[in-house]
Amino acid sequence: MDDYASLESEARARIAAAGDLAALEALRLEYLGKQGSVSGLLKTLGGMAPDERQAKAPKIQALRDAVADALAERKGAMEAAELEARLAAEVLDLSLPAPEASKGSVHPVSQVMDELAEIFADMGFAVATGPEIEDDWHNFTALNMPESHPARAMHDTFYFPDIGPQGGRMLLRTHTSPVQVRTMLNHGAPVRIIAPGRVYRSDSDATHTPMFHQVEGLVIDRGIHLGHLKWTLETFLKAFFEREDIVLRLRPSYFPFTEPSVEVDVGFALDNGRRALGGSGDEPGHGWMELLGSGMVNRRVIEMSGLDPDEWQGFAFGVGVDRLAMLKYGMDDLRAFFDGDVRWLRHYGFSPFDQPTLSAGVGARV
Ligand code: PHE
Repeated sequence: MDDYASLESEARARIAAAGDLAALEALRLEYLGKQGSVSGLLKTLGGMAPDERQAKAPKIQALRDAVADALAERKGAMEAAELEARLAAEVLDLSLPAPEASKGSVHPVSQVMDELAEIFADMGFAVATGPEIEDDWHNFTALNMPESHPARAMHDTFYFPDIGPQGGRMLLRTHTSPVQVRTMLNHGAPVRIIAPGRVYRSDSDATHTPMFHQVEGLVIDRGIHLGHLKWTLETFLKAFFEREDIVLRLRPSYFPFTEPSVEVDVGFALDNGRRALGGSGDEPGHGWMELLGSGMVNRRVIEMSGLDPDEWQGFAFGVGVDRLAMLKYGMDDLRAFFDGDVRWLRHYGFSPFDQPTLSAGVGARV
């Protein structure tokens, strides 16, 4: 074995033993760098006699190529091994469940309003709205509540210093009933609307908050009678509570803006101390719960709303949206509705993708 051959086998052995890319680079410099040993041999060719150069040049060049090839080959192997290791470490298991994304949730009041809109849309009702800052005339006078009516008392109602277009004070509407008047004045008859929204009363305890939600219903047409009111409420409540066995009890009552006026109760059964709607309230262990106010729209209201009461009749009802939500979803403290605590929402399982009622079960029934 000549010097070149032993140099080559020594270089090959060291290259094979190099542990990492840095060690390999050090060997490259040692052999093929500017000061490298193989580079040094190449330089000696210049000072040789032609004969000697002719004999040695191919051997030294072959040595250089062999070392360069060995280095490149080892480098390629190292890089491939590194890639293999990384691919093995970064295994992606597509069968693992995806991490849960954080979700917001719809507030029960918004959800119930959506459900109401869906149910009533199936019965041909449109959704109407009115201002929360209302004037005295629409909130009281046009609804047949005279100056002396107790609902107008300062301690019941939030008044503004401002005077409204008809001369009375501006106020936060105490119910959604002014939307009845506004709808008849703006659109005439016939009318078939619900009007959900916020209302305000100077009231605060576990079952009353100064702001709460109502939905008003109004139907004005020719020949409308109490039977239409009863059917509409029954159909709505069965669809909303998703129970066929909802039983209503109509009780004579008084509202200045309806005549006759009817308070509507629903039957419930006591189930482990909880009220479960359904069945007649007269059965043993059952009871009646007051749910909403309603009646045939008073002639005077129809008149003040610009329509002829001998031609147009109708019914109206008003119900607490928060109360509907409490009953449907078993929530028992009204104040929690307005605390904005997401833990409370989560506790009751509200999710934007969960819409328990809506048209699915209703369309078939109506
Ligand atoms: N506005 C009444 C209230 O707030 C409810 C009602 C509406 C009663 C429509 C009769 C007709 O108590």
